[in-house]
Amino acid sequence: MELRILPKNIADMIAAGEVVQRPASVVKELMENAVDAGAGQVDVVVTDAGRTLVQVIDDGSGMTPDDAVLCFERHATSKLATAEDLHHILSFGFRGEALASIAAVAEVTLRTRTRDAQVGTEVRMAGSENTLTREVSCPVGTNVAVRNLFYNIPARRKFLKSDNVELRHIVEEFQRVALTRPEVGFSLTHNGRSIHVAKPAKSVKFRIQDLLGPALTGDLMDISADTTIASLRGYVGRPESARKALGNQFFFVNGRYFRSPYLHKAVMKAYENLVPEGSTPSYFIYLDVDPSTVDVNIHPTKAEIKFEEESLLFQTVLAAVKEAMGRASVAGSIEFDNPEAREIPVVGPHFDEYRPSGIPTAGVDWNFNPFETEETAGREGGDSFAPESARSGGKEETVGSYDYSRHIDKSQNYGALFEDRTLPTSQILVVQGKYILTQSASGLMVIHVRRAQERLFYDRFLKALTAGGHVSQTALFPVTVNVGMEGLLVLQNHTEVLSRLGFDISPFGADCVVVNGVPEGYSAQAGTVERLVGDLLLALEDESSAPGLPGVMEQALARKFALLGATSGEKLRSPLEAQRLVDALLQSENPEFTAAGKRILAIVPAEDLEKRF
Ligand SMILES: Nc1ncnc2c1ncn2[C@@H]1O[C@H](COP(=O)(O)OP(=O)(O)O)[C@@H](O)[C@H]1O
Ligand SMILES: [Mg+2]
Repeated sequence: MELRILPKNIADMIAAGEVVQRPASVVKELMENAVDAGAGQVDVVVTDAGRTLVQVIDDGSGMTPDDAVLCFERHATSKLATAEDLHHILSFGFRGEALASIAAVAEVTLRTRTRDAQVGTEVRMAGSENTLTREVSCPVGTNVAVRNLFYNIPARRKFLKSDNVELRHIVEEFQRVALTRPEVGFSLTHNGRSIHVAKPAKSVKFRIQDLLGPALTGDLMDISADTTIASLRGYVGRPESARKALGNQFFFVNGRYFRSPYLHKAVMKAYENLVPEGSTPSYFIYLDVDPSTVDVNIHPTKAEIKFEEESLLFQTVLAAVKEAMGRASVAGSIEFDNPEAREIPVVGPHFDEYRPSGIPTAGVDWNFNPFETEETAGREGGDSFAPESARSGGKEETVGSYDYSRHIDKSQNYGALFEDRTLPTSQILVVQGKYILTQSASGLMVIHVRRAQERLFYDRFLKALTAGGHVSQTALFPVTVNVGMEGLLVLQNHTEVLSRLGFDISPFGADCVVVNGVPEGYSAQAGTVERLVGDLLLALEDESSAPGLPGVMEQALARKFALLGATSGEKLRSPLEAQRLVDALLQSENPEFTAAGKRILAIVPAEDLEKRF
């Protein structure tokens, strides 16, 4: 391979653009160069989320002394010689822009040696100027250290986001490259701590597991399809493991990551009615197409791509994912999203309409906590009734000797205890754990359980965040969750908010946390806590909740955590729980809609019922 300067015409064909937007761009470009150079191992070392240092070390081909200098010239590339080559590019790079762009906005030290050379070359650049070239002894391969990014453009440096956010971008870019080349080993280290170690792997699935953990991999289903325009392989998550925020969604074409809102829609269409609104399944979709039918050159960092046969590709993706959904034989639609559901007349603003008829309002305890499950209520309510000997003396209350039968005894007291304080539960019907049916003054009232819970969570969370105070908490047997370095940082930055919302989470070691408590009403089974923490991180990192207008951040947080709570929540198990939910909902100032504007309750007028017969 020899370096050439691209002829002007090709240079012009290649749209100029900004390659380096943030530290993560440097990580991406250097990793791609390392892979293009045939490296078997690529190590990425980052300091201060890339502000101070981004260094990428590879054991690839290395460069000759001449190339080590020439590679910083704009349009210096070894990967493209003629315009025709542009149509069947399979390497990551070909514009010859990355190193030139990076050297223009940072201090760069390159050390490199080819296999046949006894001695290597060191080249230093700062603000596009070559400040040093000399011989050094160094291993075969290339080592590029990029220091003080944007040191000469203070405005750009100021524009960088918090370390958490920048690191998040770095991790994303790292994962995107690592997911395209399972056979290459990769590592990512930040401030001296290891974030990812991805061993060379036989297949993508092992790579996914290394990067994202066995829990996620266990949830994946294979997909594959072969059509005249594309061959598709990959994995998609089971619908039940869909997450509430964007996270692990990856498209690759011919070994390159790309973003595609359009094909994302194809995936989501296949999941239609299988995942709750607002959640997104994980997917890793690898397409192979004829390189001449795809234009990777419409975007300066090649993150977006133009396909010749876009709509056929859409159908291919849709069909492949749908086929997997069929295999998972997941059924059950979320009926509130049915167009027909909208034909149910909107409930008017007359509050009495909501109230199931016949409620002896005076007898209802409005302070009742709807999130108390029967079990916990039984435990607490029962304690005062249980004989002294059966009460938990502090000493005997150890994890090992916990007497679960106490729950059962006490939940038997429960019914008697509250009978006179609640409605006859016979007026309430729970359908599939999803809907509550009850009477209203003019007909049948239908309540969407999950959304009702979301509303109640929202009200509680918003109050805690704006008016001060804390949401009550369910204590857990402590669960340790590995959140990684960056995750730990994020959680630590939000200690105050988390404690107000009812979480008890404390750091444990360098990259773990211990979860001791969650907001009351959140699902708290051992297996679900790990996912909960993952979702929590996504919610906290989401930039849309960044401080802005007063109150906006609180609302956004309350909304996200309400959704999280409602979707993590356990199913209604009894009419009594349903009753509590209805009571509490009708106490809300806005029982009709969730904070996100989704309908919570609907009334089917008696006339409509009559029409059916
Ligand atoms: N890690 C590396 N190992 C070997 N050669 C490299 C490495 N990084 C860059 N090069 C050489 O420098 C050239 C310029 O790199 P770059 O500016 O990223 O442009 P491109 O990747 O588009 O060719 C590459 O074409 C390659 O020949
Ligand atoms: Mg490159």
